[in-house]
Amino acid sequence: MKHLLKLLDVTGEEIIELLNLADQLKYERKHGIEHACLKGKTLGMIFQKASTRTRVSFEVGMYQLGGSALFLGANDLQIGRGEPVEDTARVLSRYVDGIMIRTFKQAEVEALAEYGSIPVINGLTDFAHPCQVLADLMTIREYKGVLEGLNFCYIGDGNNMANSLIAGGLKTGMRVSIACPKGYEPDETVLSFARAYGDQFKLTDVPADAAANADVVYTDVWASMGQEAEKAAREKAFQGYQVNDALLASAASGCMVQHCLPAHRGEEITAEVFESHAGEIFDEAENRLHVQKAVLKRLMG
Ligand code: CP
Ligand code: NVA
Repeated sequence: MKHLLKLLDVTGEEIIELLNLADQLKYERKHGIEHACLKGKTLGMIFQKASTRTRVSFEVGMYQLGGSALFLGANDLQIGRGEPVEDTARVLSRYVDGIMIRTFKQAEVEALAEYGSIPVINGLTDFAHPCQVLADLMTIREYKGVLEGLNFCYIGDGNNMANSLIAGGLKTGMRVSIACPKGYEPDETVLSFARAYGDQFKLTDVPADAAANADVVYTDVWASMGQEAEKAAREKAFQGYQVNDALLASAASGCMVQHCLPAHRGEEITAEVFESHAGEIFDEAENRLHVQKAVLKRLMG
């Protein structure tokens, strides 16, 4: 594993190895055991979109591993004035030891990896959010003890989260059911990957069918970053795709609820469901830190 660009590129075994390392790093952190394996190393973090969790967890993670992180806002970089990503990659490769990038196009992240000579980590594109899904898998395994054989359900937009959850869920042996309105399905490359898993994957436009007997129910915003202008049309399209008590009634008993955050209460999830599952949702947010430290150690250590 040289980069983390999308989970379609990573094997199930590599995902489990990262989760095991993340569990160990979390344990060490909680027990005051220092782990300065990235001493003297620097991570450049390019942000073309807003962020709370990704920015803070990567920056703190580098610091806890003995290294440092540079916040590079796209508006302050020449990239914002049109310098090609191919050139930015070759320049940054001379200064820093790894790049984390949050941007719009997946192709930009792939180009950074192709032209640079250092590890590249995808911190969210319109297509994928692999770091978030690694944290989700870590959290589900903490609560349920296993991943293999669980019924995982995603309700809502077939966006970057859905694309990455399908790849990560299937590769770790979960049964994955997705409910999206027609016209808002996941990316076709992900669907064709998923279809090869036969009965282990289901796509429907009926939320209750996807949620039946679910061990984990996951949702995300109806309008992602960059889709603000479509918000009203999307709110209409997603009526009936809310994670609420009625939907959870058909899930398995002890069903977990996960959300990558930020959450919009009253839209994709009710305030009641959110608050009654807040413990596992904020554990999920915390695990971004631990799992990304595992990724940093693996790629830059
Ligand atoms: N879940 C997530 O990636 O959060 P941020 O947008 O705050 O980084
Ligand atoms: N789908 C959301 C995820 C945010 C973490 C977005 O792209 O805005």
